[in-house]
Amino acid sequence: MSDFDRLDPEIKPVNYDIFFEPDLKKFEFKGVEVITVKSGKRVKQLRLNSKDLKIEQAWVNNESATVKLDGKNEIAVLTFKKPLEKINKVKLAFSGKNSEIHGFYKSSYRVDGEERYMLSTQFEPADARSAFPCFDEPSFKATFNLSLLVEEELMVISNTVIEKSEKIKGKKLVVFKKTPVMSSYLLYFGIGEFEKIEGFSGRTKVSVYVTPGKIGYAKLPLDYALKALKLYEKYFGLKYQLEKLDLIGIPDFSAGAMENWGAITFRETALLCNDKTPISERQGIANTIVHELAHQWFGDLVTMKWWDDLWLNESFATFMSYKIVDEMFPEWDTMLRYMNGIVAGAFSADSLKSTHAINCVVKRPGDIDELFDDISYEKGGSILKMIEGYLGEETFRLALHDYLTRHSYRNASKEDLWNSFMKEAVKRRIQFNTGMISQWIDKPGHPVIIVEPSENGFYLKQELFTLLKNGSGNWNIPVQYKTDKGEGRIVVKKEGSFIKSKAEWIKLNLNGAGFYRVFYSKPLLEKLGAAFRQGRISTLDAWSLENDLFVQARTGRVKLTEYLDFVRKFFMNSEYPLNSSVSNHLAWFFVMTYGERNGESVKSLVIDFHERMLEKIGWDKRKGERNINTILRGKAVASLGLAGNEKALKKASDVFELAFNGRKCDPDLKAAAYALKSWAGNSKLLGKMIEKYEKEDFPEESARLLNSMGMIGDVKALSEALDYSQTERVRLQDSFRIPMFASGNPEGKKLIWGWTRKNWKILERKNKMGTHSLHHYVDNLSGLSDRKSLREVEVFFKKNKRGDIKRAVVQVIERINANINFRKANDLQV
Ligand code: BES
Ligand code: ZN
Repeated sequence: MSDFDRLDPEIKPVNYDIFFEPDLKKFEFKGVEVITVKSGKRVKQLRLNSKDLKIEQAWVNNESATVKLDGKNEIAVLTFKKPLEKINKVKLAFSGKNSEIHGFYKSSYRVDGEERYMLSTQFEPADARSAFPCFDEPSFKATFNLSLLVEEELMVISNTVIEKSEKIKGKKLVVFKKTPVMSSYLLYFGIGEFEKIEGFSGRTKVSVYVTPGKIGYAKLPLDYALKALKLYEKYFGLKYQLEKLDLIGIPDFSAGAMENWGAITFRETALLCNDKTPISERQGIANTIVHELAHQWFGDLVTMKWWDDLWLNESFATFMSYKIVDEMFPEWDTMLRYMNGIVAGAFSADSLKSTHAINCVVKRPGDIDELFDDISYEKGGSILKMIEGYLGEETFRLALHDYLTRHSYRNASKEDLWNSFMKEAVKRRIQFNTGMISQWIDKPGHPVIIVEPSENGFYLKQELFTLLKNGSGNWNIPVQYKTDKGEGRIVVKKEGSFIKSKAEWIKLNLNGAGFYRVFYSKPLLEKLGAAFRQGRISTLDAWSLENDLFVQARTGRVKLTEYLDFVRKFFMNSEYPLNSSVSNHLAWFFVMTYGERNGESVKSLVIDFHERMLEKIGWDKRKGERNINTILRGKAVASLGLAGNEKALKKASDVFELAFNGRKCDPDLKAAAYALKSWAGNSKLLGKMIEKYEKEDFPEESARLLNSMGMIGDVKALSEALDYSQTERVRLQDSFRIPMFASGNPEGKKLIWGWTRKNWKILERKNKMGTHSLHHYVDNLSGLSDRKSLREVEVFFKKNKRGDIKRAVVQVIERINANINFRKANDLQV
């Protein structure tokens, strides 16, 4: 397909007056809008975006215009007799149908067993055009005057407060206050029955809206939002811009949450919680709320010029949310969680030859969708942390203040951000050149430094790291290091460097703060392990050491036994985040070698490692224990149980009996208990779980039940569970859960590819373009590790590659190839 069909930058909207009349019985809507349009040209034609809408009539400056729809490019062309003036009124009457899960869509919920419907919108990135004809690119900022005519008993929510509400024709006309100047993808309106609670942060009213019956789960999220709002205003040095902020739980929601200005929407599991919700899930919820709050500034107030700079939204929201949650709950170890949650994820995504630069070219409509990935979120977030580390927290903060102030109610690009960094750095005489930063944003991939000791020092050379085969590296890598003689800094250039030293050992990438890997020779590695044991390098240093060793073992560059031996020798009984990282990596090896010759040595380390962990933190909750230990306990029990440890399986079974029957138990062990019970279970258990699932109204429990159905150990029952996932009994938004968990289930790897292939047509039809969900089913194949499956996957996706999964396909093939390399290196059959 050719490049995007972009709109004419000289013809711009200034204001939209939009009226909607939705029909909640037929799920159709009618609308009339008047767009005030500024034009720099005297032309007799005008193009705007429209998708799946019927445009009944159009007028330009009161004269009727003809409309031609270009469905493929989602554009409506209006042609008229008199050329455009400087300011014009474009009036359109249109109608459309409510869709499923994106655009202007319907969502269902149950009240006392009865099914009811509401309407809601999800416009990012390019679906405002399926609700009303508009200039649907982020640069076309305008104000919106929205009004809706609805049944009297329904509530209507939009970005701003209600200006007036009046009875008309037995219905209710709700008129909203004019929005600030903003991009079309941020407009929101929702119509339905809601319950709400509210609170104030200064003069801003903050409310949580939920469908009836769920208000008991709204208090905690409201508290999170109130706390975060205050902290953001202080951090950015800029007040929140609107009179109110709503957080709305929508029963059917494709993503996790969406930052519509003043009206943030959430998937219910990403919002609803109470003090019985497992701490790890509460942390996730706090993080999601705080992420969307960051967007009220980064994204809504200042918006990227075009989608190629999406990272200006998402990387910042990722980084800021952890920073602010850390301030809200110092006891949550949030910045340490950043290492395993964000930085490790970034390395993993960026280790593929098929990765892309953070700032990347957007050529086709499917490209926009694909940009909401681990590179825009996790890698961008990791680089921002690195930049903050370099500039210092206060300089970084002031630069953000400068950037947000300068571009308020406008659009910005990465150059604008560099300018703000530069300005603040210069003021404080911090040496700073943009090339230093922009290389991480503009270049795909990341480097690895290979360290070779010599008689009188260490040779450092760099390569581009990828899972399959390294390339040549061309970064200027600012390196902080530590030796047994002291600390130092050096910039490693393309041609490599030499550190003259009499030191015994050297640890590069101090505290894992830089976005690059380091490979050491085996003797050096042993010395570093010993230095860690003696407390001479930090847990974070050991964390980066372990991550870099893992990736070498995972790709067959070093033997699995070498990794396992190293962990046994140096990392048993270690602290967070190292222990959690080891646990994750052991789990990866466990699944990969499950039921095979090498499997036994992995299994015995899985057991020893987690038994030691539980000896230290306790099998049962301790009063006042460190938060992270509560989480690790669940993780350790789950790992032990999968490896067949009796004590863990018994523990899981006990918790399951209580939890499943709604009795009091340790909530933080629920997920592990459900998973292990399933692991030991068969069709009978599946039947019990399905029965409970279909009666369950609390989304947290529904999700837990579905997730654990994907963990059933009996292959026949697992296959039934997979089929169940795509029936009408499971909401589209949750249909990915069972297959996703099945793909990580050691027994599931026998089924997942066959099932995916057999059901592909159904999956493709259900997970439409724009819902950003089809890729899950491609990602699920990343555990395949034999040549036959690889060939089949390659052939299959040659024929079945829709625009929004193109990159996912290339990536999964690369991962399968790396798995094959792992197996070859460890003498396993491929
Ligand atoms: N802007 C996104 C929502 C979005 C995602 C819109 C993909 C269109 C396509 C929102 O800010 C977001 O990033 N949501 C995350 C949650 C967050 C806590 C990482 C999500 O939905 O996963
Ligand atoms: Zn976001």
